[in-house]
Parts: sequence; C-alpha cells; structure tokens
Amino acid sequence: MKKISYLLAIALMATCSAGAQYNTLWIPDTLGGTNFNLTIRDTFRQMLPGQQTITGGINGSIWGPTLMFNRGDTVHMHVTNNLADTTTIHWHGFHLPAVMDGGPHQTIPPGTTWNPYWKVTNNAAMYWYHPHMHTMTEEQINMGLGGLIIVRDNTESALPLPRAYGVDDIPLILTDRRFDNTNQFVLSHYGDTMTTNFTIHAQYTVPAQVVRFRLLNVATERFYNIGFSDNRTFYVVGSDGGLLDTPVGVTRYTMGPGERIEILANFNGQNGQSIDIMAFNSTFNNAIPGGEPVNFPVADFQNALGQRDFMILHVNVGPQTANAITSIPSTLTTNVFWNTATATVNRSLSFNTVQGPPYPPGASLIDNTPFVMNVINKNVDLGATEIWTLNNTTNVAHPFHIHDVEFHIIDRNGSPAPAYEQGWKDILWVPSNSTAKFIAKFEDYCDSIYPYMYHCHIAFHEDAGMMGQFTVGCTPTAVKDLNNIAGLDIHPNPASDKLYVGFKDNRPIYELDIIDIRGKTLYKYPMPQKGSGLDISKLPAGIYVLRVQDMNGNIKLEKFVRE
Ligand code: C2O
Ligand code: CU
Ligand code: CU
Repeated sequence: MKKISYLLAIALMATCSAGAQYNTLWIPDTLGGTNFNLTIRDTFRQMLPGQQTITGGINGSIWGPTLMFNRGDTVHMHVTNNLADTTTIHWHGFHLPAVMDGGPHQTIPPGTTWNPYWKVTNNAAMYWYHPHMHTMTEEQINMGLGGLIIVRDNTESALPLPRAYGVDDIPLILTDRRFDNTNQFVLSHYGDTMTTNFTIHAQYTVPAQVVRFRLLNVATERFYNIGFSDNRTFYVVGSDGGLLDTPVGVTRYTMGPGERIEILANFNGQNGQSIDIMAFNSTFNNAIPGGEPVNFPVADFQNALGQRDFMILHVNVGPQTANAITSIPSTLTTNVFWNTATATVNRSLSFNTVQGPPYPPGASLIDNTPFVMNVINKNVDLGATEIWTLNNTTNVAHPFHIHDVEFHIIDRNGSPAPAYEQGWKDILWVPSNSTAKFIAKFEDYCDSIYPYMYHCHIAFHEDAGMMGQFTVGCTPTAVKDLNNIAGLDIHPNPASDKLYVGFKDNRPIYELDIIDIRGKTLYKYPMPQKGSGLDISKLPAGIYVLRVQDMNGNIKLEKFVRE
C-alpha cells in the first residue's frame, strides 16, 4: 500500500513539473494588538484537486494566523482547544515563564481555554507556535497545526529592510506531505509532495527590488538545502532569534526542522523575469534527514523527494513598488553574546542510537535516557551562564532545540560556526559524528514546579523520547506548607462578568483553573495577574469550582456562582 502511493506520487510530481500548473502562494492572515484569540479545531481544506483534506486549523482551515508582536508589550493569549484530543501550544523561541511555555505539561484538554501571557523581551525575528503534546506532536503538526510570530523592535524598525508583509516581506513555511489516494495526509517520516505555506507547486509575484523572505522549516523530519535556480547570491540577515551583525552572502543554506532564517534577494531590474527558490537536496547523503535516495533500502524512509532537487517557490518578478528598498544594507546591528569566560557550568549531552523495541526503527535518545514526563533531567540555577556540548554519535544529523533561551554557537568540531550561524539561535543541527557547543544564560524566570524542554526537533524523534527537561531553580527552594493554606477571597460572588480571586494572605497564585460541576476544567489561568480579574461572561449560569494553586504546589478548592 505504502509502495503504491509512493509510486503514484512520483507520477504526480512528473505531471506537475511538465505541466507547470502553479497555485498562488497562500499568505496567512495577521493578528496584531496584545490580546490574541486562537481556536484550534479539526477542519478541512482543498489541498489537491478532488476530495478535500482533513486538516488541523487555528482560526482557519489550516495552520494559523501570523501574530505580530512588539517587543516590550505584554501579550495575552486565549487558546481554545476544539480538537477531539488534548493538545498544547508552545511559543517556540520565546523567553517566558515555564508555566506559560506550552510544553508537554501545559495541556489544554478538549473544550477548554488556556490563558497564558508574558512580556515580549525577544529580539525582532520570526518565531512560531505549535503543538507540543508528548507522543502526539508529530501527528498534530502533520495535521497542519502551527503558526508564525513576527516580533518587531526599535532596532529592526530603524533599518532599511523590507517589511510590508506579503508584499516585499514574505513568510515561507516549508514542509512536505504524503497524501493517500483519498487526498488525506499520511503520517510518515517524509512526504512525497512539497508544500510552501501549505500550497502545492506555489508561485508568487514579488516586486523588482530587494525582497525579504522569512523561512521556517516546519517539516517533521526533512532538511532543506535552500538556494535559487540561477545560483544567485542571497543574503542571510536573520537567524532564529534576531538579526545578524551584517548580511552574509551565500548561495545555499541547509535548514533543519524548527529553524528559521531571514534572507534578502535582490530582484532590482528583473521585472518580467521568473526564478525558482529550490531545495537542492540532491547534494545530501543519507546522514542528513531527507538525503535518503529514492530507492533507500529501509521502506519507511523511501519518498519521492529523497535526495532530489525540487522547487519551493516559483517567483515571478513584477513592477517595483513605491519606496522600494533597492540595495542590501551593509550593517544591521551589534549583537553582544555571552562571554565564555563567564560560564560557570559545562554540560555534555550525547545523541545515541537505540535499537529495537520499545523504540521504533531509527530512534535516538539523548544520553541514552528516554523522556519521562515526571523526571527532571537537569537543574539550572537562575542567572547561570552555561556551555552545552552536543556530541552526535548517531549516523544522522539531529536539530537540537532548547526552550527558554536563545543561545550563541561557540564552535562546530572546534572551529567557529559559519558567519551565517553567528547570530541568536534556538536550533543547532549537529551532523553525524560531530560535536557542537553553545553558550546560553538562563535569566529572569525560575519555577519550583514546571520545567522547560530540550529535544531533537525531528518530531518523530521527540515523540519517541529524544527529549529531556530542565528546571531553572529558584533559591531558596520552596517548602510545602500543606497544613497552613489560606482561604480564598472571591468577589463578587455570585458574579456575571469579572471575578476577582486571591489568597486571603495575599500569597501569589501560581495557577488557577475554573472547573464545572462535572469536573471538567474549562479555563486555565497560569499566574493570573492580580487585579485584572477573570472574564467569566461566557460561562453559562451555574455553580463552578475554583482550583487555585500557590507557588509551592498547595491547592485550594472553593465554589463560586455565575448568575
Ligand atoms: Cu518547537 Cu520544544 O519546540
Ligand atoms: Cu521551543
Ligand atoms: Cu533527532
């Protein structure tokens, strides 16, 4: 069965390239401001001619809106899960409290709303959000769930860079999918069909000037070797967590899953011409995921795009816009990275291959230890600067990702990383049989209960256990005082609009849930802000329970009435 659909896909690919039937690149809508409502649901979308594809969508029919944040704002998210399964939404790349992070511990059960908020301190760059439900991440991302986040700040805004979204500043979400013969997504390591912004065989018209493309590799496993069909030089201006000091001219860039780059391409004077952005994956070998040849001996890894060059976007150059940017800036910013002399902790992590059950073929682990929900693998002190050495002993590259921080790559196999990797990063892909080192500082947020994750961003590896968790410890360590928990102040009660809740002794609330009389959690508020009140206006009239937890894990249950 697998074999048949794979051959069909090859036939389909051949038809596409011969007929050059292009579809217009879909550009996700944007949402701005400081309050964001995101509703996750099962839906469907016309991906291929004929039957529609069952997808996961956030506010729309696939993927989600692009959220526009300004550095310095406090953003409030209201994430409602209307899927049949529990999920989470992780804010990939953001520096925020662990309880707002959206990792595997911040579950959003079906029919409930999660309300995290945080102050945006990240640099201007493109980040993203996606499900992080342990053992279901690959499946939920494969449905098309996720979204982009663009952060703007004063440094970036002052530069002569293109920033008209969808005009000269174009997001490119790269992933491939396998379809069955009823046009449904198949969960597989690799797809046979490339999609860009979930558009198959995409084309787009850009103005004849400098254009910025913001690329995200959202494939669950495949790497892409990005370049242009005429081998022109393009300029990397940004990495995962911010701008580079200066644009770096390249003709190729290899992106692992989860990675972002911002590039500039100059189409000045090229009105009327066409050019393709390509994945030059024929240069890969099978030590890079997606570099397995089409006839690779392990059937699970066979796919129609394996070790081939294929198109990402057909670019048509149109007329120049008013106020066009027509040259590549020579400098961007001055990044100050952590000094290795200030590091107080050195850690080494190794990536190992594991053989046989319970692990699926091709599975790897970090330090031979599978992820376990209630085991904390590492403790980091608040304020510590640390050097992490990643040693990949497996026969394939892994894109390592860590939550909470953006880091700086110190070296790859003892040599400095290439200039285009000398910016803020949260993904570091480590080739087979090599090492890489990064430095990071763990500031601002500590948590006595919830950890952050580090993992391989190949979703299949992560789900199979190639993940660990660390807490950023608060000092002194919290002590439980189970016998001495204060009551709650709840007013007004009954209430119909806003409800104000606090501990009688004013201790901070760590997490507050609103539960109905059947025991279902309807709303989750991590660290609700004092004084702002909870919006209960959408609750039907009735009796509800407040489950309120303090910083030490003590829990108080009390009733209130929605009239
Ligand atoms: Cu993009 Cu832990 O994830
Ligand atoms: Cu992340
Ligand atoms: Cu991996």
